[in-house]
Amino acid sequence: MLAIDLAGKRALIAGVADDGGFGFAIAKALAVAGASVCLGTWPPAMNIFQNLLERGKMADSMRLGDGRSMEFERIYPLDAAFDTLDDAPAEIRENKRYKERGDFSIRGMTDRIEKDFGAASLDIVIHSLANGPEVKNALLDTSRRGYLDAVSVSAYSNVSMVRHLAPLMRPGGSFLSLTYMASERVIPGYGGGMSSAKAALESDTRTLAFEAGRRFGVRVNTISAGPLASRAASAIGLIQRMIEYAKANAPLTREFEAMDVGNAAAFLSSPLAAGITGTVVYVDNGYHAMGMGVEGPGTIGAG
Ligand SMILES: NC(=O)c1ccc[n+]([C@@H]2O[C@H](COP(=O)([O-])OP(=O)(O)OC[C@H]3O[C@@H](n4cnc5c(N)ncnc54)[C@H](O)[C@@H]3O)[C@@H](O)[C@H]2O)c1
Repeated sequence: MLAIDLAGKRALIAGVADDGGFGFAIAKALAVAGASVCLGTWPPAMNIFQNLLERGKMADSMRLGDGRSMEFERIYPLDAAFDTLDDAPAEIRENKRYKERGDFSIRGMTDRIEKDFGAASLDIVIHSLANGPEVKNALLDTSRRGYLDAVSVSAYSNVSMVRHLAPLMRPGGSFLSLTYMASERVIPGYGGGMSSAKAALESDTRTLAFEAGRRFGVRVNTISAGPLASRAASAIGLIQRMIEYAKANAPLTREFEAMDVGNAAAFLSSPLAAGITGTVVYVDNGYHAMGMGVEGPGTIGAG
């Protein structure tokens, strides 16, 4: 049988702080396939997340299909806005939610992984984080600071993670990020420069696939996912409308689930996808293929 077998592989998923987003679903799929899973979690969200885990409040969602319960090998503090601790301004370093965490930069997380597991210790890296402080502003009304912050946290962080973590990857290593089709088509309401950040992320996927492929032999891909009411997406405000619109107009009318992305991520991260790099893979019930909505006046059905 052709199976996704990630036994003996170690994954790092950056951007998990609850059980409602794509990162968590990817963690589950990788764990079911046998990988050990480490997380990178934003320091301000870390306390609540660890409390929920320790008190067993997430026991149901931690259960894997085969009856096992998922375990995280490590949870590292990570603020992907900073490449080194020196890059973080004093008010962040002194903030009580950061202070006790040690080095929460991308460099700091990389050093901890190397210290914990050694020099060739990673096989899979998932970038599942984004933030645009002005996401509710139209692009036209976005400040320079807001735009650059969105691109810094949501796109440059992926460049930095590939640069820092690729040297720790074992042969066949795979990087994967999450993007959204607002990069290539207008999604009213997805503002603050987030559409620009996703366009950068997708373009960088191609360039990084070439550069890191030649230098380290790793693969770099991104999944363009359909809308999901995660915590991050709920902050945009329009997520429910985006979900209903996609459902009404996508080729497939089945419920789109986070695990659809989880399972596709497990495949792309596995040796079965050894020849796939530099790609944007759509996991969105096919919505990206549509050029015209099917609802409303003049509806044209497919059947
Ligand atoms: N939800 C959707 O509709 C949708 C659609 C397509 C793509 N995506 C993408 O999927 C990825 C995961 O998002 P999600 O929707 O599953 O939400 P989520 O809330 O589960 O994940 C986002 C994570 O990013 C973390 N984060 C924010 N700023 C950070 C920083 N500076 N450093 C480190 N971590 C930080 C948050 O703490 C959170 O854990 C994102 O890249 C998002 O843009 C989401």
